[in-house]
Amino acid sequence: MAEKRAQWGSRFGFILAASGSAIGLGNLWKFPYITYENNGGAFVIVYLVAILLVGAPIMVAEIVLGRRTRHNAVGAFRILGDGKPGGRAWMGVGMLGVIAGFVVLSYYSVIAGWTLRYIVMSVSGQLGELAQTPETLQTFFGNFLGNSWQQLLGHLLFMTATISVVILGVGKGIERAATILMPILFGILVLLVVYVMWTPGFSQAIAFIFKPNFSQLTAGAVLEALGHSFFTLSLGMGAMLTYGSYMRKSTSIPRAAMAICILDTMIAIMACIILFSIIFSFDIDVQKSSTILFTTLPVVFYKLPGGAVLCTLFYTLVAFAALTSTISLLEVVSSYAIDELGWARKKATLTMGVAIAVFGSLSALSMGGVESLSSINLIGRDSTAGIFGTLDYLASNWLLPVGGLFIALFTGWVLSSTDTRNELEEGHGPLRFYGLWRFLVRFAGPAAVGAIIVSVILGAEYQ
Ligand code: TRP
Repeated sequence: MAEKRAQWGSRFGFILAASGSAIGLGNLWKFPYITYENNGGAFVIVYLVAILLVGAPIMVAEIVLGRRTRHNAVGAFRILGDGKPGGRAWMGVGMLGVIAGFVVLSYYSVIAGWTLRYIVMSVSGQLGELAQTPETLQTFFGNFLGNSWQQLLGHLLFMTATISVVILGVGKGIERAATILMPILFGILVLLVVYVMWTPGFSQAIAFIFKPNFSQLTAGAVLEALGHSFFTLSLGMGAMLTYGSYMRKSTSIPRAAMAICILDTMIAIMACIILFSIIFSFDIDVQKSSTILFTTLPVVFYKLPGGAVLCTLFYTLVAFAALTSTISLLEVVSSYAIDELGWARKKATLTMGVAIAVFGSLSALSMGGVESLSSINLIGRDSTAGIFGTLDYLASNWLLPVGGLFIALFTGWVLSSTDTRNELEEGHGPLRFYGLWRFLVRFAGPAAVGAIIVSVILGAEYQ
């Protein structure tokens, strides 16, 4: 069985696919708006530290679990837990991941569906008219959220695209999609960054992002940075584990993980540079920063020369970024059905994909117009009303951090040091930083995730 498992075509195939998973709405939407809300500078530094000390080591841990066993999230824990303390109970962690993948994909694809609507409207010119004033666009957006059919249509289209890629398999589907979409995504981003360098708000944006003011940093901001480092790197539910299970033994895990973290971070920062430059260029009053992407942005884009082109490019970029993420979410669930239930890929992907699409329709249909704006808060910590808000709260505050905690504990404390060292050195050579990595996985990771969980239990509010 192990011999038959699919593999990435090359080292870059893995890096592109895994970066595709990591780079998504979290980078283009969530990161800019939490950076904005937390006053930039110091928050960005805390975020970078969180990526380096918590995110990156746990990413390495997930990939190790996957490549060592060449199995899906549940299978990996079944194999590695065997004969160790806790034994088969560890499979529960994998199962939690599969459930999280199911839940996150079901609502992530609803938001991703909005980008399709915006692409169509940019091309047709309708967006240009709506974006004349912030108020008209705001009203449109509220009505759009309340329009069940349009919500459903976008969601189902996006799920169809996701299923179509995953059904083709690891090489012909996932890797090929990433190889095509990621360079385009990167190209569009660079274009937009070059464009905003000439806008008057650029230098203010750079100062906002990079000039730290630690007196403005709150405890809530630190926790938010930590939580986001998890979400943005696709950690805590076996996505990196699953992609790692298709990795060649000749590829270096630490180097690949570094590349993914650097790419993910670069793109998050670039998104901030683009958004803040154009927002600071105009005297725009950002009322609800969590919907910046869909309400404020078009207004400013259309004030600039070539607004229609900029908008089309931008929403295409967001759609592509979201697609490579939804692919990875579905692959976690599909690979579980393939390995553990013995289903063929086609049956697994179709059955699970359709089930997720149906389940996600609940979120699409419950987007109750303008009021639900407050619940749009990926990995937000408010327990909010509505199915969408509840699922998001459940997944981001419970499933992902708890999953991440157990992944770190399992890798750091249950697996033997020889096992993890052998896997890490395969394809890499002797490791200099092994001790540091192990220390971070055993202590820093669990402590950080523990802090997030405790803060959620105590109901710590941000800001
Ligand atoms: N990382 C993606 C983003 O930033 C979201 C995502 C995709 C994800 N797969 C995941 C998050 C797995 C957690 C787990 O948008």
